[in-house]
Amino acid sequence: MTKILMVCLGNICRSPLAEGILQFKAETSKIQVDSAGMESYHVGELPDERSIQVAEENLVDITNQRARKFQLTDFDDYNIIYAMDKFVYKKIIEKAPSNEAKEKVKLILNEVFSDENLDVPDPYYDSIFAFRNVYKMLDEACDSILQNLK
Ligand code: 4NP
Repeated sequence: MTKILMVCLGNICRSPLAEGILQFKAETSKIQVDSAGMESYHVGELPDERSIQVAEENLVDITNQRARKFQLTDFDDYNIIYAMDKFVYKKIIEKAPSNEAKEKVKLILNEVFSDENLDVPDPYYDSIFAFRNVYKMLDEACDSILQNLK
């Protein structure tokens, strides 16, 4: 069993999509996916309605998700922790209690563009088109993740 955690800032736009897409594509109980945010503004909320919409357009249902904050125990509970951007990556690394914990943290787009350290742009203050762009990036990243886990 590989346990994967997707992390963004609010856990309502990007990481719920990453969680939903990877779980949908995995089609196996050998991979368990969850998501979390580094900030607590939206804890307990459903994903952003625009994330729900673009997921639905791709037949992925993310309405079972509720936002939660990243917690220290996540370093023990997950094998891989994917940050959506460099700011989030830095925030997670700052909390890491050990080198072993730090090594679990990766930038998700490095799965597609190795070592380029690209960000999944925060779409919160943007339009539905930005959410569709985020979906496309995460869709590719999740394909690579599954390929690399084989
Ligand atoms: P996310 O997007 O990190 O992809 O969930 C955001 C959602 C909310 C806020 C920022 C980013 N916010 O400032 O409330």
